[in-house]
Amino acid sequence: MSSSEPSRILVTSALPYANGPLHIGHLAGAYLPADMYCRFQRLMGRDVVYICGSDEHGVPIMLRARAEGNTPQDIVDRYHEQIHDAFRAFRMSFDFYGRTSSPIHRETSQEFFRTMASDSAFVLRKDTQLFDPEAKLFLADRFIRGTCPHCGYVDAYGDQCEQCGRSLTPKELHNPRSAITDSTPELRETTHWYLPLDSEQKWLEGWLDEKSNWKSNVLGQVRSWLNDGLAARSMTRDQPWGVPVPEDVAEHAGVDAEGKVLYVWFDAPIGYISATRQWAQECKGAPDLWKTYWQNDDTKLVHFIGKDNIVFHCIIFPAMLRRHGGYVLPSDVPANEFLNLKGLKFSTSRGVAVWAHEFLENYPADYLRYSIARTLPETKDADFSWSELQSHVNSELADTFGNFVNRTLTFALKYFEGVVPPLSEPSSLDEEMLQALAEAPAKIAKLFEAYRFREATTETMALARLGNKYFSDSEPWATRTSDRQRCSNTIHVSLQLSATLSILFEPIVPDTCATIRRMLHLEGVRSSAPEDNARPGGHEQSEPAHEAALGWLDSGRPLLESGSALGQAEILFQKIDDETIAAEMAELKSRAEAATEIGREPEAPYAALNHAIAFEDFAKLDLRVGKVLVAEKVKKSRKLLRTEIDFGFEKRQILAGVAEHFSAEDLVGRSVVAIVNLPVRKMAGLESQGMLLMAEDRDGKLSLIESLGEAGAAVG
Ligand code: 2FM
Ligand code: ZN
Repeated sequence: MSSSEPSRILVTSALPYANGPLHIGHLAGAYLPADMYCRFQRLMGRDVVYICGSDEHGVPIMLRARAEGNTPQDIVDRYHEQIHDAFRAFRMSFDFYGRTSSPIHRETSQEFFRTMASDSAFVLRKDTQLFDPEAKLFLADRFIRGTCPHCGYVDAYGDQCEQCGRSLTPKELHNPRSAITDSTPELRETTHWYLPLDSEQKWLEGWLDEKSNWKSNVLGQVRSWLNDGLAARSMTRDQPWGVPVPEDVAEHAGVDAEGKVLYVWFDAPIGYISATRQWAQECKGAPDLWKTYWQNDDTKLVHFIGKDNIVFHCIIFPAMLRRHGGYVLPSDVPANEFLNLKGLKFSTSRGVAVWAHEFLENYPADYLRYSIARTLPETKDADFSWSELQSHVNSELADTFGNFVNRTLTFALKYFEGVVPPLSEPSSLDEEMLQALAEAPAKIAKLFEAYRFREATTETMALARLGNKYFSDSEPWATRTSDRQRCSNTIHVSLQLSATLSILFEPIVPDTCATIRRMLHLEGVRSSAPEDNARPGGHEQSEPAHEAALGWLDSGRPLLESGSALGQAEILFQKIDDETIAAEMAELKSRAEAATEIGREPEAPYAALNHAIAFEDFAKLDLRVGKVLVAEKVKKSRKLLRTEIDFGFEKRQILAGVAEHFSAEDLVGRSVVAIVNLPVRKMAGLESQGMLLMAEDRDGKLSLIESLGEAGAAVG
């Protein structure tokens, strides 16, 4: 490692919420790219620690627990295991996978909060919030339901109306009620610890100015937050589930700590630190080792996340780390956009997804790793589709990479007694191939270093494609009898390239690469995963990352000795047939249809009730029965009908905006009700001397209010 390089790399992937299974969108966002990066860096011989864990606090977990009649702990226990298993099956090479309900996390985040509080990093603010008197709880916005002030939807959430999509605050809702007990919440005073991000703005701007090399999607979001101006954000909540606010801190501030927890976005990123502490203690037996990574400017800290987490990792967490002091700040935050499902609306809550655990029960992890790596949403949203996965597996993994390695090894086993044949007087074709092989590691390394994993994947496959072309152009099946040395050279070079590919493909398809090395009897390759989780069920042939082992850059030179024995050929990839893909697509479609049923738009809501009025106000209206004598369309108006109505005491002209609902003939002869004491209004150049009453149903359809009373009868 040159002196300008960091001494160690600390990599994190966003902690997934433990309230549902992982789907392929998750894998493409914060996980596969990070794993590829870490495996690449380990092969480069760098000191890498890769941290992740389950995010086990927050309102969605409490809501899920309530919906299922379980405790939040039950929920997180279940999903923590399920998520961790799926990560293992997907071959995520974490050094440690922690969880935020662990004691070490509680202690770490409380200590972090305490240090910040004692350094006056927070300001205390008193505010009123809705409180459920029955559950004796302050209600998080999502726990409040009520009528949307904009569209009248009666089941709007305290933070958003699902009917009209508008953002809301709980206090705006009409008829608010608690989603927990259905009781009417009361406004009560409560005190919270706020982080005054406005005071950090200047520093953050300066710090972020140095990050011009960050991805443009990340910088774009960050700039827009800064342009809007940062505001103080509350770092505590009144909730029954989370890391409790430390009692000593609360006492010192004169606040009752009862029922107060740290905001989930305060404690979650500290989960990276607590998991590193746990790793140091449990895996390394060196409790202070975590400090070498976190409290050292020489560490390169890289957060892999999805785009929805940008503000937390680029603004709030850095501000927390700096305010606490003593911590390294992120060097980079290569956030990805979203991977969606082609042609379908992706929905975790409704179950429209390709679940990681289901996929991995049916297909090898490498198929999914490769297909996702080819589709990574690095600069914009991308789509996953089963047909593309089929083509990635069949045409690229099987027909290109697998075919090249297989035809090479099979040939050597059949015609060269299972040993690496010698290279002598290579042709220009051989030289060109060896040259491409020599240049590939450095070229592809640049892409990994720049977080361009999709391109790194296509470049690596391009090398396998070149190998296939070289093999075909060299025609060893012909030279076998016509020019034995030429044939020997072709197989020698192709075997060397297979060995190279078994290292360069390692970050992308690690299981396949282990198989290839076994087939080639290639030993001494550095491990791309931590020793203790190298390969679940492992037939791992790699070795720990000591300096002597073969690494990424070594793969640019021939790795196999002439005359060395080869192993048996194994099929690397099974093609996926059309019926299987059709069945997968049908399954996804039926999930989407089932979800549409469940999620069918609720019927249009009844109009919200108006505020109550005094009886005297109602009494002011003069409502009368009238008989429609004449009705006709008003020229040049789409909506207006002109009517002449006999009210007994007099005849009046009334204009009604009902032409889209009634024809003129529909109205003539009907006994209607009208307001007759409104000021005269002019419409389309005509006077209207009253207003017809209509009922408007929830589809917006109008019907007449009719009366059996005589013309002129007062209605009331
Ligand atoms: O968006 C999410 O899924 C969050 N659970 C990510 C947390 S990342 C970190 F800060 F812990
Ligand atoms: Zn609404």
